[in-house]
Amino acid sequence: MASVLALYKRDAGNTKLKEHGSTHVGASADGRASDIFSGAVAVVTGAGSGIGRALVAALAKRKARTIIAIDLDGSAVEHTALIVGQETATSVIAKRLDVTDEDAVRTCVAQAEREFGAIDLWFSNAGVNRGEGIGSTLEWRIALDVNLLAHVYAARCVLPGMERRGAGRFVLTASAAGLLSDIRNAPYTVSKHALVGLAEWLAIGVGEGVKVSCVCPEGVLTGMTKADSKSAGPGINFIEAGEVAERTLVGVEEGQFLVLTHPRTGEYEARRVQDRQSWISSMRKARTRSQGKSCLFAA
Ligand SMILES: NC(=O)c1ccc[n+]([C@@H]2O[C@H](COP(=O)([O-])OP(=O)(O)OC[C@H]3O[C@@H](n4cnc5c(N)ncnc54)[C@H](O)[C@@H]3O)[C@@H](O)[C@H]2O)c1
Repeated sequence: MASVLALYKRDAGNTKLKEHGSTHVGASADGRASDIFSGAVAVVTGAGSGIGRALVAALAKRKARTIIAIDLDGSAVEHTALIVGQETATSVIAKRLDVTDEDAVRTCVAQAEREFGAIDLWFSNAGVNRGEGIGSTLEWRIALDVNLLAHVYAARCVLPGMERRGAGRFVLTASAAGLLSDIRNAPYTVSKHALVGLAEWLAIGVGEGVKVSCVCPEGVLTGMTKADSKSAGPGINFIEAGEVAERTLVGVEEGQFLVLTHPRTGEYEARRVQDRQSWISSMRKARTRSQGKSCLFAA
């Protein structure tokens, strides 16, 4: 079947990527070496913190050859490269990059492939969760830019190469909010719903040999949730980023499209799809219990 993805070709820029640690990859902590991760070139965005940093550590543990760790926050991602490089003796490249800048992403992909070889795994993980209620126009623009369009840019820049090679894993971090609803924040919820739709569209359209996975965690204890993990509402189950990274890699290795890091997400999604009316009634009850009359407008 012909791919639905257009091919994009541009010249790469010349900014040198910064390397931490040696090129020698040490033994994994659990002695396990997986075929798809061992010796692979992997890229992780949003790697300066939380789930992204944990993915870098988990990939290093599985003996990835080179990991390019990307984040908007240059010092945070250098810290990731430093600690993972120190702890695992894996080669980690720190790269400050804004994932909403498509030209910069394309340049980075070309440069990475020139210097380290084909990208085997791309974890499109950077995301933002700002504002509350129905949100301001600015909050909508930021949410759609980072949580949706940046993934479109990554797909355009990375998937044509994977398709030409007939191999690769493209992994998008969405959220359980993209399957269910985060009643606190419309821009986040809607941008993540759109991202799940994009991931599904890519998974259907992508060429032979390439696999797309969509990770949908519920609460994870990271920088994003630090402030509100206590006020998130009843029933939100927060787990550590390391656990999410481990479950993600297991799902990706098994070729799962939907990677659910919290077991009950699938159960809730099934309930929602089965009876949308009763799902909305029970969500409204939960919202009234935790937030009062309406959650559309912040106090
Ligand atoms: N923490 C949770 O409870 C939770 C739950 C479900 C999904 N997620 C998703 O997981 C992903 C990672 O989130 P996290 O919890 O680790 O949050 P985090 O805030 O700890 O990490 C997000 C990282 O993305 C980076 N980033 C933001 N905008 C960027 C940009 N334009 N370019 C490059 N980097 C950028 C930030 O600097 C930060 O280091 C996000 O997509 C988030 O929506 C998180």
